[in-house]
Amino acid sequence: MTTYTLNNGIKIPAIGFGTWQIEDGAPAYNAVAEALNAGYIHIDTAAVYGNEKSVGKAIQDSGIDRDDLFITTKLWNADRGYENTLTAFEKSLALLNLTYVDLYLIHWPANEAQFENWAEINADTWRAFEKLYVDGRVKAIGLSNFPKKYVETLLKTVQIKPAVNQLEFHPGYLQEETVSYCKENNILVQAWSPLGSGRILDNEVLLSLAQKYNVSVGQICIKFALQEGINPLPKSTNPINIKANLDLSNFELTAEDIASIKNMGDLGFSGLNPAEVPF
Ligand code: A2P
Repeated sequence: MTTYTLNNGIKIPAIGFGTWQIEDGAPAYNAVAEALNAGYIHIDTAAVYGNEKSVGKAIQDSGIDRDDLFITTKLWNADRGYENTLTAFEKSLALLNLTYVDLYLIHWPANEAQFENWAEINADTWRAFEKLYVDGRVKAIGLSNFPKKYVETLLKTVQIKPAVNQLEFHPGYLQEETVSYCKENNILVQAWSPLGSGRILDNEVLLSLAQKYNVSVGQICIKFALQEGINPLPKSTNPINIKANLDLSNFELTAEDIASIKNMGDLGFSGLNPAEVPF
């Protein structure tokens, strides 16, 4: 599979399989097993998804060599801070039944609406991430849902730069300011909900592009992310969609197509502002 190279030299498969909202037990196990079988080698989970155990079991049962896989998990908000982070990491690793993860992310930044010392909390959490990285427990460390301001603030205190920032990104929500800032700083943007969680699949601009290339709107969205230099993490529990979302080699969007997607206008997505999230 095509890869991006992170700012620490680690290669990351250009498309990953997302597992948000896929329930633990049979749904998560079957979806990940299906994805691995279809050729995904990059799986994205998180402590708060509650499915690390089933994701890990599907990985073990696949028989695929661990070193050929790229596995991401994320630190939940309740576990921020230096010591808590180290403890939470061990718990995730045990649930996944792995000896290392490829990428560990801070799921959401601590924010000013919750904490006066939000910047310090993020810096302390990051120090634990740096320790995990230096100790060889993770191959790369990064952020998730950090708008530009939060990345900028964190960068002032880091020893090791974040390798990625995982954001909501799709044709209905481009987050241009944060995406540009990350690109300028050599931080790879990963896209969660690259299909807008299924809410943009009937958009006319996307439907006409899908018709033009004889592919699905889902495939258009994933290709769009890739051509923007972004790492999409589509999720699906449907074996047909799981396969299709990886099968993008027979078309390429033109500059005009990309401009038409970027000019689709406001589709009513405001995204989740870290200062407004209820956790
Ligand atoms: P399903 O599980 O039935 O495939 P996102 O990755 O943006 O969160 O979007 C996930 C949603 O999009 C899921 O509801 C999934 O449903 C749907 N989906 C995933 N891939 C496709 C596809 N290729 N075509 C249509 N819908 C898709």
